[in-house]
Amino acid sequence: MNGPVGTGAGAAVPLVDLTLAGVRVVPMRGRHLSAVRAIDEVCFSRPWSTALWRRELADPTRVHLVAVTDTVVGHAGLLSVLDEGHVTTVAVRPDLQGRGVASRLLLALFAAARSREIAHLTLEVRAADRRAQRLYGRFGFAPAGVRAAYYSDPTDDAVVMWCHDIDRPEIAERLELIRRGLAPITAHPDDAGAGDDDEVVR
Ligand SMILES: CC(C)(COP(=O)(O)OP(=O)(O)OC[C@H]1O[C@@H](n2cnc3c(N)ncnc32)[C@H](O)[C@@H]1OP(=O)(O)O)[C@@H](O)C(=O)NCCC(=O)NCCS
Repeated sequence: MNGPVGTGAGAAVPLVDLTLAGVRVVPMRGRHLSAVRAIDEVCFSRPWSTALWRRELADPTRVHLVAVTDTVVGHAGLLSVLDEGHVTTVAVRPDLQGRGVASRLLLALFAAARSREIAHLTLEVRAADRRAQRLYGRFGFAPAGVRAAYYSDPTDDAVVMWCHDIDRPEIAERLELIRRGLAPITAHPDDAGAGDDDEVVR
């Protein structure tokens, strides 16, 4: 499950909420591009050029979203062909990874896909990137094959993952669980242990 789980009063481990507060997911616009490109520069060995990004933003078969606080902290996008959506990019600023930003972006991407009547989603992910595969697995993507040496710098196979029939109730349940996991932790009023010295981040 995404996000930390509190165990209430008497918890043996301190509650630590790493959820990034105040994140909004909005459509990507030209004004976001310099921040998006800065994220891509550190996340990808072959980042897209500004010219390519501009073509993407002008193309009605594409959806590109940004996660923003006071600045862009991540982005995700897809291209659609008939009733299939291909997730082409997901990237989060390295210093803010592990705080639910990609999960928020993917929740919004699923909603955008559904509103465009996309029935199935697919993506490629580096075979070595178990963390990303785990993230996509939580959303209902399952491995369906391998493209050998698909990536370069460094060379790696791609695992092809599919999430079929995104309208399925099972997917709705998964998305709801993820959404709930992203809610910030608030200490229970009866939590007798909650003093100044507790490592509770709200
Ligand atoms: C893959 C990538 C997009 C994931 O982004 P992210 O914002 O770190 O993803 P999330 O925070 O939603 O989830 C990652 C982990 O953080 C955990 N997490 C999320 N919110 C949390 C919270 N509030 N408290 C504690 N843990 C949390 C998730 O459970 C998940 O845990 P896991 O790794 O044990 O499965 C990011 O690592 C990235 O940008 N990588 C480089 C670019 C790249 O390779 N992109 C293509 C991937 S195909």
